[in-house]
Amino acid sequence: MASFEKSDKRTHYCGTLNAELIGQRVNVLGWCQRQRDLGSLIFIDLRDRTGIVQLAFDADTDKAIFDNAFGVRAEYVIAASGIVRSRGEGAINPNMATGEVEIAVDRFKILATAQTPPFAIVENSDVKPELRLTHRYLDLRRPDLQNNIIARSEIVKIARDYFAENGFIDIETPNLIKPTPEGARDYLVPSRVHNGKFYALPQSPQLYKQLLMYSGFDRYFQIARCFRDEDLRADRQPEFTQIDLELSFADEDDIIALNEGFIKRLFDEFMHMPLETPFKRITYAEAMDRFGSDKPDTRFGMELTNISDAVKNCGFGVFTNAVENGGSVRGITVPGGASMSRKEIDALVEFVKTYGAKGLAWYKNADGQISSSFAKFMSEDELNAVTNAMNAGAGDLILIVADKNTVVYDALGALRVHVAKKMNMIDKNKFNFLWVTEFPLLEYSEDDGRFYAKHHPFTMPFEEDIPLLESDPGAVRARAYDIVLNGTELGGGSIRIHTTELQTKMFEALGIGEAEAEEKFGFLLEAFKYGVPPHGGLAFGLDRLVCLLLGLEDIRDVIAFPKVQNASELLSKCPAHADPKTLDELGIRVIKDEDSE
Ligand code: AMO
Ligand code: AMP
Repeated sequence: MASFEKSDKRTHYCGTLNAELIGQRVNVLGWCQRQRDLGSLIFIDLRDRTGIVQLAFDADTDKAIFDNAFGVRAEYVIAASGIVRSRGEGAINPNMATGEVEIAVDRFKILATAQTPPFAIVENSDVKPELRLTHRYLDLRRPDLQNNIIARSEIVKIARDYFAENGFIDIETPNLIKPTPEGARDYLVPSRVHNGKFYALPQSPQLYKQLLMYSGFDRYFQIARCFRDEDLRADRQPEFTQIDLELSFADEDDIIALNEGFIKRLFDEFMHMPLETPFKRITYAEAMDRFGSDKPDTRFGMELTNISDAVKNCGFGVFTNAVENGGSVRGITVPGGASMSRKEIDALVEFVKTYGAKGLAWYKNADGQISSSFAKFMSEDELNAVTNAMNAGAGDLILIVADKNTVVYDALGALRVHVAKKMNMIDKNKFNFLWVTEFPLLEYSEDDGRFYAKHHPFTMPFEEDIPLLESDPGAVRARAYDIVLNGTELGGGSIRIHTTELQTKMFEALGIGEAEAEEKFGFLLEAFKYGVPPHGGLAFGLDRLVCLLLGLEDIRDVIAFPKVQNASELLSKCPAHADPKTLDELGIRVIKDEDSE
């Protein structure tokens, strides 16, 4: 039997065969997508990462090879060699890239057999995510997922090329670092040599990339793995990747222009789409006021309207109380929203409650038929003042939240996007990039009764706001910027503090005393003594970037081995118990175990 010899190396990938190769010998290797036995004819669709090609076995085929092909099942691994030929009139498959040709096989080998897989290896399969993730190696055979992972690699290559061409040096920063007190929860790694002490996995390379600026590397770049023990969502994983950069002697405009250049290059080379730069910029305050969000989706309108003035003296206590208590009354007008049923509106009421709103006041005008949850509390003039302020006409629906500002923004910001999705108002072909600037430097936590850094404690405040650090910390603006795409925060960065004096002031505003600052960031304060250049940087969330460019919703689809909602990985089944001997060496005793609770 003619079998596939070691010397018969692959000559072509399956998906690359076409009519130009007719008459040539080719060697292909891959997996059996399906085998069709038509009696005197057998076809095997052979799949590799580039696509599928048809192998043909017929009366002219060597009998041993024909018998071998007869036994082939889905997912067998196969080596085949033969002459490319036309499929002939009537047999051409226009739905297949290689549909004009097939290989008349004369050398053939089964390299591995396979059991029937737990799900079919096909595009867009709707198999349960748990099953897919448990057999991720099979899931990753699916062409759509393979294409996502390959696309990710192409995007990373463009990033490396672009930043290298712009003078950035790729430097690795450590993954075992000192636990950081600010930000999300750390993943801790116990030390065997220093029992009782821990490393943390980095939430980002932040401090080290700043230190590299102090060292004079001037332009740093890294595809950096980051770890954050946060609650997971569709756009959050406990370990994820940043395109991370930092540069010296640069201000906001330099950093923004540089990164717009990168995105433009991505759209050129990867999306094959023109993209206009510079991107729009709006301040945090304007973003909140217009969209109720610091990552606004600007692909549709329905902006927030502040009607506090119009209602502050009206007869509806919910509205007047909110204004009197220092809050506000704001709403959105849903064009054509009057077609929504009572049941649909009730669902919106429940929706805003999950954002802390106590209720949702609504008004609709369906062809002159007025219905409303609050009209009965108002005079006609007062009601007209509301509909005028909201610019609402026949067919529209007004949705209003009255509360303290944070709740109003949260609830309406989310409602705006929710309604836009529900009403199909979003143009999926648009890529609306936006810079949000002038973030507040500090954020007050009512739970803890103190301020926290909104970005991180090394962010530079606006020069003219520095005096406010003591008198009105909440009003200090940060020299921080986020890049937002279609309502997702794609990346963020800032200009950093580079003097001891200002860093100390910042720690004071954060309630971090001298001793605590010394213990946690002593090395940074010490470094400030030896000549630190002005610097700043930015990090993109790579997973989010790939996800959005591919038009996907869940970052798990662009990560080869992602974790699920409860932060476990279903394939290898981690986290897992550690061996008692290992724990002993680490000086660790487990006092709480989820399995024995
Ligand atoms: P930041 O915390 O804003 O900034 O993170 C930068 C970007 O990383 C992405 N990201 C995530 N992606 C997936 N899963 C997560 N859990 C997750 N968390 C964040 C987001 C985000 O915009 N050191 C600073 C950057 C700097 O100042 O230079 C930093 O880490 O897309
Ligand atoms: P009530 O007098 O509580 O029945 O409220 C009348 C209407 O006002 C209902 O439609 C409520 O959903 C709505 N409502 C209650 N609280 C708020 C609020 N904080 N913001 C907007 N509407 C509210």
